Amino acid sequence: MSTDLFSLKGKQALVTGGGRGVGVMCAAALLDFGAEVAITSRRAKEETEFAALAERGPCHFIQTDLAATHGVAEVYEALRTRLGTLDILVNNAGVTWGAPLEEYPAEAWEKVLKLDVAVPFRMVQTLLPLLEAAGKHRAPSRVVNIGSVDGHAVGVFDNFAYAAGKAGLHQVTKVLAQRLGSRHITVNAIAPGPVMTKMTAALLEENGAAVVDANPLGRLVESSDIAGALIYLTSAAGAYVTGAVLPVDGGFSLGSWSSLRLT
Ligand SMILES: NC(=O)c1ccc[n+]([C@@H]2O[C@H](COP(=O)([O-])OP(=O)(O)OC[C@H]3O[C@@H](n4cnc5c(N)ncnc54)[C@H](OP(=O)(O)O)[C@@H]3O)[C@@H](O)[C@H]2O)c1
Repeated sequence: MSTDLFSLKGKQALVTGGGRGVGVMCAAALLDFGAEVAITSRRAKEETEFAALAERGPCHFIQTDLAATHGVAEVYEALRTRLGTLDILVNNAGVTWGAPLEEYPAEAWEKVLKLDVAVPFRMVQTLLPLLEAAGKHRAPSRVVNIGSVDGHAVGVFDNFAYAAGKAGLHQVTKVLAQRLGSRHITVNAIAPGPVMTKMTAALLEENGAAVVDANPLGRLVESSDIAGALIYLTSAAGAYVTGAVLPVDGGFSLGSWSSLRLT
């Protein structure tokens, strides 16, 4: 058996929202295992962690707003001209919105469902020619959607549209996996528990101790946890896995996520 089971040498990857947080963790892991990586961000290159990523390996930057009308098409055009094909698509860009039930605004639903469900679907739809050109029978192209524990377990934070969006993303993952297997593309999701990023910093600063205490494995998600799951799903090791939603949450989704006591 090849010991290169986890190598990504020669592979080309895209990470949406790869300029900070979980996206940086994904891009860094792909680079460390040998892939050439493009990241997207709405911000200028200098305002992201691009420079540190580029020190790890070949890295490209695409500045675009994926929620804007032409955002996804711009990414397709940039990848077509710079890379030609695409082995790995990581749909990481996402947004949340927290507010009490009685005050939860209609605009939260529009913003969150657009970026967390519609955009990942549009990305797969639009980048299909590039993914299909790279995929082979025993070496399929990969789509990995970054879901959440909130998409399959009922939590205590008031992020209603986010929970619905991530549940939708998990289901779209399965539907696309069923449709795209015969086109040599696998589609899976990673469902992390809480990670310390800009998205969660305020919540975790206030409730971090309670979150850690309630977790069966007693800690938050770390970058190596994200890396391990992502490299498994994108390398030869995961070539026969499709339609999976992989929890990377220390056991939170087994029950304690919903019984968490906030301070
Ligand atoms: N943190 C957690 O506890 C946690 C747990 C489970 C799942 N997740 C998921 O992990 C993913 C990354 O979240 P994070 O924790 O790293 O949060 P974050 O630091 O807030 O990062 C969000 C990312 O999404 C990108 N983004 C937001 N709006 C965008 C738009 N309109 N167009 C393009 N990119 C956009 C941002 O890129 P720019 O600002 O550079 O444009 C940024 O890279 C999300 O899908 C999130 O749901 C996070």
